[in-house]
Amino acid sequence: MFHHISYSALEYSINRAYKSRLKQCGQNAEGVFWRNKSTQIARFETLLSITNEASPNPKTIIADVGCGYGAMLNFIEQSAYSKTILYNGVDINRSMIKACWNNFPEKTHLFKVGRKASREVDFSLFSGTFNLCFLNNHQTWERYIFSNLKQSWLKSKFGIVLNLLCEKKANIKNQIYYANRRQFISRATEIFGPTYAISTPRISGDVTFIITKT
Ligand SMILES: C[S@@+](CC[C@H](N)C(=O)[O-])C[C@H]1O[C@@H](n2cnc3c(N)ncnc32)[C@H](O)[C@@H]1O
Repeated sequence: MFHHISYSALEYSINRAYKSRLKQCGQNAEGVFWRNKSTQIARFETLLSITNEASPNPKTIIADVGCGYGAMLNFIEQSAYSKTILYNGVDINRSMIKACWNNFPEKTHLFKVGRKASREVDFSLFSGTFNLCFLNNHQTWERYIFSNLKQSWLKSKFGIVLNLLCEKKANIKNQIYYANRRQFISRATEIFGPTYAISTPRISGDVTFIITKT
């Protein structure tokens, strides 16, 4: 119970920050706190190629958890991933989901407010979902992350794929969370099972993790 109360306070500040950022910068990479479009796209590219490789199916249903204004769907539609990926997006931020509905007026059914897929998917993907946080204690933030990942795990048939910024020691600096790559792997392995990591190509410090059901 205590955790739920503190988590909703946590999410309140996160929602407020994303909402005002989107209003200020508009629907582009900067509007969801990315440095630029190429760092946003490079992350999608890695998440999707790992997902395709890990998927036993020719068509893979994904949930993009923390979908922002829907940039990943844009990217998929303009690439060969449109042939293999079936997309759904969720975000805890209502303004983000409204932006998705505006961007994809024919596909509003693909976007919902939430923290996990609304129905079973093959994989849940997270890009930058846990980077911004308003806390000083990284252990509390890690508990929050794993509590969210657990909810998505239950909705994902084959596994989850996420990226996190990493440093030598886990810490929070200027409201950005940095994980320790090895600690994250061992914690995720304990909770879920086999976890692998690759340094996200072209994004220094970013690591993409894949956790699969065996
Ligand atoms: C850095 S932005 C990235 C958006 C998008 N993935 C992209 O790359 O364009 C992170 C997004 O995650 C959302 N978010 C944060 N925590 C979340 C949670 N627990 N569940 C779902 N969405 C969350 C935020 O509202 C925000 O839209």
